[in-house]
Amino acid sequence: MTAPTTAPILTAPPAISALGLRKSYGDKVVLDGIDLTIPEGSIFALLGPNGAGKTTTVQILSTLIAADGGQAQVAGRDLTREADGVRAAIGVTGQFAAVDNLLTAEENLLLMADLQHVPRAEGRRRAAELLRRFELTEAARKPVVTFSGGMRRKLDLAMTLVGDPRIIFLDEPTTGLDPRSRRTMWEIIRDLVVADGVTIFLTTQYLDEADQLADRIAVLDRGRLVAEGTADELKRLIPGGHIRLQFADLTELDAAARHFGAAARDPEELTLRIPSDGSIPTLRAVLDVLDDAAVRAESLTVHTPDLDDVFLTLTGHGTPDTTTEMAR
Ligand SMILES: Nc1ncnc2c1ncn2[C@@H]1O[C@H](COP(=O)(O)OP(=O)(O)O)[C@@H](O)[C@H]1O
Ligand SMILES: [Mg+2]
Repeated sequence: MTAPTTAPILTAPPAISALGLRKSYGDKVVLDGIDLTIPEGSIFALLGPNGAGKTTTVQILSTLIAADGGQAQVAGRDLTREADGVRAAIGVTGQFAAVDNLLTAEENLLLMADLQHVPRAEGRRRAAELLRRFELTEAARKPVVTFSGGMRRKLDLAMTLVGDPRIIFLDEPTTGLDPRSRRTMWEIIRDLVVADGVTIFLTTQYLDEADQLADRIAVLDRGRLVAEGTADELKRLIPGGHIRLQFADLTELDAAARHFGAAARDPEELTLRIPSDGSIPTLRAVLDVLDDAAVRAESLTVHTPDLDDVFLTLTGHGTPDTTTEMAR
């Protein structure tokens, strides 16, 4: 029997699969049995707060560090027995930019091509193409030290792509970026999957980022996956957003409460929480009701669900306070 030339999608081996991954530092358990299956050509987001173990997971799956237990296949190769094969198939963009500030963007890319043993002419061709793709052509000959955070991240990703990886690990690709650069980065990431058919494993602290990008999301808490599913499946588990109205006194609060049936009234805080998707029409509707009833609110804030809501719902606690671990 001959193997079919085009394997049906459903039977294609996953790009990444892991079973029972464990890692401890001293007596601190960082990963406590992680199972993953990530189909080829998809975007997977590992969502968790600082210190949850995201970078550790990326480091293990990209062969930078060894797990203490469990097993994994990346690009069909065993992580420990075929580490070289895994390395040949992947690209890693770390949490902290790996670019050399004193070199130009072009020099950084050429250096990377050299490190990956890409032939000179081919390296030049790829560097030029990546600079064009990420709109860095004009800045190509400038030292990276003059770059904005967004440009630096783009260059960092471009460097990852020099080796033409089939699987790309992105550790917190947009942390610290301004909203506009974040959106650009999101577009680039989406385009990688659509245009190149690569598989992306990204980590993030932001629910909206996972929501925007990922086919599947797993939530990592204290070394365990506490939920896994599509963004919609996850959002069904967590409370929606709300509008929070603050009042000067109880009289005003009660006057307002009478007009919003589904709202939660907090007499201590003098606030009203009205379930809402935070859209302009619903905001306007709330303001109209207040106007019509001649009730005065001191302030209004819109709250969209975030990682804290996910954690409160899934784990019964907020995102762990890991301020002491911020440096990692
Ligand atoms: N090399 C190391 N030595 C000791 N502890 C570490 C080391 N690397 C990570 N840790 C600890 O492991 C936990 C998870 O870290 P990390 O994977 O970097 O989390 P995240 O990327 O989700 O913020 C943290 O408590 C961190 O302090
Ligand atoms: Mg990290």
